[in-house]
Amino acid sequence: MCGIVGYVGERSALDVVLGGLRRLEYRGYDSTGVALVVDGSIASAKKVGKLANLDKELAEHPLPASTTGIGHTRWATHGPPSDRNAHPHVSADRRVAVVHNGIIENFADLRAELEAEGFEFSSDTDTETVTHLVDRELRGDAPDLTEAVRRVCRRLKGAFTLVVADGEDPGRVVGARRNSPLVAGRGEGENFLASDVSAFIQYTRSAVELGQDQVITITRDGIDVIDFDGQPSAVTEYHVDWDASAAEKGGYEWFMLKEIEEQPRAVADTLLGRHDTQGRLMLDEMRLSDDELRAIDKIVIIGCGTASYAGMVAKYAIEHWTRIPCEVELASEFRYRDPIVGRSTLVVAISQSGETADTLQAIRHARQQGSKVLAICNTNGSTIARESDAVLYTHAGPEIAVASTKGFLTQLVACYVLGLYLSQVRGTKYGDEVASTVAELEKLPAGVQEILDRGDEIRSLARELAEHRTFLFLGRHVGYPVALEGALKLKELAYLHAEGFAAGELKHGPIAVIEPGLPVFVVVPPKGRDQLHEKVVSNIQEIRARGARTVVLVEEGDTSVDPFADVVIRLPNAPTLLQPVLATVPLQIFAAELASVLGHDVDQPRNLAKSVTVE
Ligand code: F6R
Repeated sequence: MCGIVGYVGERSALDVVLGGLRRLEYRGYDSTGVALVVDGSIASAKKVGKLANLDKELAEHPLPASTTGIGHTRWATHGPPSDRNAHPHVSADRRVAVVHNGIIENFADLRAELEAEGFEFSSDTDTETVTHLVDRELRGDAPDLTEAVRRVCRRLKGAFTLVVADGEDPGRVVGARRNSPLVAGRGEGENFLASDVSAFIQYTRSAVELGQDQVITITRDGIDVIDFDGQPSAVTEYHVDWDASAAEKGGYEWFMLKEIEEQPRAVADTLLGRHDTQGRLMLDEMRLSDDELRAIDKIVIIGCGTASYAGMVAKYAIEHWTRIPCEVELASEFRYRDPIVGRSTLVVAISQSGETADTLQAIRHARQQGSKVLAICNTNGSTIARESDAVLYTHAGPEIAVASTKGFLTQLVACYVLGLYLSQVRGTKYGDEVASTVAELEKLPAGVQEILDRGDEIRSLARELAEHRTFLFLGRHVGYPVALEGALKLKELAYLHAEGFAAGELKHGPIAVIEPGLPVFVVVPPKGRDQLHEKVVSNIQEIRARGARTVVLVEEGDTSVDPFADVVIRLPNAPTLLQPVLATVPLQIFAAELASVLGHDVDQPRNLAKSVTVE
């Protein structure tokens, strides 16, 4: 939520900052703005709406050249999207410019204090209080911007990443963070600050991770970090293992389409190096000892949105392979219900971005109760990865489209790997399934590719069904979270009414909404030894009898549904537990195509932002 960039160097700061904002726009697109240090003052421009509006504004009213600048792309919290509420917020004397991500909880008190002193506010935001506070410090006895920002941070409550420039101090940009993301990029003769590395990856792959409550100063020649008490802080440096092209559209109309197509590689990369040729799992990165893993008597999986659906699938798989009781909970609910977790509970936190505030707060709560937390995360150096006891990274590469696709598939794979690894370490009843399941996991990239190769069939189905305003998705067992994910993708991208149901619940209520012509997607489990398959086939008949238009996702070779299906989408064969990796893909393609047909922005759906860094 909100993208932030800061730059000091020798290049045009405007070009670097705008380039960074373009890559961070997925984090919020209610307004954008830039501020440059020019001749002892701040020059700025900001505009409501997407970056294209700011581009237009800058073309009509160009800013002077500068090599020091900051920028912001906003997801509105305090104050509606408008030019006046857009960041940067610049002080009346045009000395200080501030961009901010997060929520300053005590801003009303601070604002009252400043107004009593005669400061005039020109926006409804919480951020503007910071501008005036920093300005006041600089006009007082603060020796420089770094100290001014540090003093102000000590007065702020809530979550914030701040990046600040001082018109009278060219060549310095100061950042600060508490509970919101900020990373630095180390270049030669130039340095960067940004919400994530994609903003500066084209200039440097050398990144500096920031901890909580730290103030960072970048100049042309260096990076300096202190804590909120003013003490020097050690930082962790890391190399970003993907390059700028990974964060480009690469010829696709939308990032989401590119990310859907990247899934075979993302799944393969998430498995890479994690098992030997005998199918024995090797998780060298696991920072939890075998003894700690053997001591676990309960697993609680937490996540939000799509990540929570990965968690629902994981529950089935992990319980089956390990026989450890497993609960799944929305991270946003977890800490508010006084959950029963303790030293022998493993909390598995799933988050693509590693910055989701609800998940982060849930992790903190679990750790306070003495639980170990293992994060399944796609973002190196993110807050969730840093604050967890162990991390199992997904290797999806950067996910730019707001709706998660390859993030989800790789989360599923990481959950399977975790479940199988626990089974291997603990030597449980189904331990003999480990090697054979690893072999099945290795077939998934090819299976996903097979579905992608048949993508045109699904796209034409989306065009055919484009006039419908309601869609239902049904599934059972691991097919249920797939149904929920299919419905969520359609809701967020196409703004349509879409609901996912557990197929077994149909007769307990949902069947009432079935009416002639209503499109219903049904995920059919592979034919197995249990009766699950037959039950779902019966469900299809029940809705078909009431006139629904049935779109059935079923494994190759299973013709039992053909008489009751209006449309059949064939899935490559896979064991039941792994089927979600395959069954989700057509639903992603369907939602993206439908949104595109309806003329929506597939990458940046209205009202949403990629990482939800406020609760
Ligand atoms: C939906 C989607 C969201 C995220 C959720 C959690 O397409 O992307 O539901 O899955 O906001 O985000 P992370 O995984 O970054 O914690």
